[in-house]
Amino acid sequence: MGFISKLFGNKKMEETKMEKLNIGIILGSTREGRVSPQVGAWVKEIADKRGDANYTIIDIADFKLPLLGEPGGDASGAGGWSEAIAKQDGFVFIVQEYNHSITGALKNALDYLREEWNNKAAGIVSYGSVGGARATEHLRGILGELLVADVRVHPALSLFTDFENGTDFKPAVHQQNSVNEMLDQVIPWSKALKTIR
Ligand SMILES: Cc1cc2nc3c(=O)[nH]c(=O)nc-3n(C[C@H](O)[C@H](O)[C@H](O)COP(=O)(O)O)c2cc1C
Repeated sequence: MGFISKLFGNKKMEETKMEKLNIGIILGSTREGRVSPQVGAWVKEIADKRGDANYTIIDIADFKLPLLGEPGGDASGAGGWSEAIAKQDGFVFIVQEYNHSITGALKNALDYLREEWNNKAAGIVSYGSVGGARATEHLRGILGELLVADVRVHPALSLFTDFENGTDFKPAVHQQNSVNEMLDQVIPWSKALKTIR
């Protein structure tokens, strides 16, 4: 390869790398014994095979966020949370149903930030006795206020048929297609919204 083509070839490779979107897979639960890490790892495995974005698991539990506005909280956790979200172009929320809604931990983590969420896209993968459908609808309302465009396709996992004993994640085969169809919508919307930020 000549000097010029090598230079431009490298530049192109660099650009392609830079152009790759960053998609954060956010684990919405933080309790001891939670199943969200199993679901998040499964989504990441499917997503990584696509090669169309840099997919990263973002675990709210790692940031030790106090309740918003609570005195004596660890400010470094909030700073890290802001940085982790700001660098993403889009999200996949791993959502579990708690009392027909999302977890307090996820609501608190959403409330912490504003601009970091704005003008980005998101998909939702949920679970619960009815696939986490009620929690998902609550989350959609919250995302609207944060200017996050949530896509239509929604993989909904049943605690009865996609888990064994409600705890060991054994997803039905068709669920994988649903994750890919959801990502087929998240990626172009994330790309489009990047142009207006
Ligand atoms: C506080 C609490 C409330 C729950 N409420 C509901 C509910 O309203 N509907 C439902 O389908 N499942 C409900 N569940 C069951 C959870 O969806 C199930 O335990 C799930 O595994 C929780 O996600 P996690 O393991 O990631 O924390 C509830 C669980 C907890 C801990």
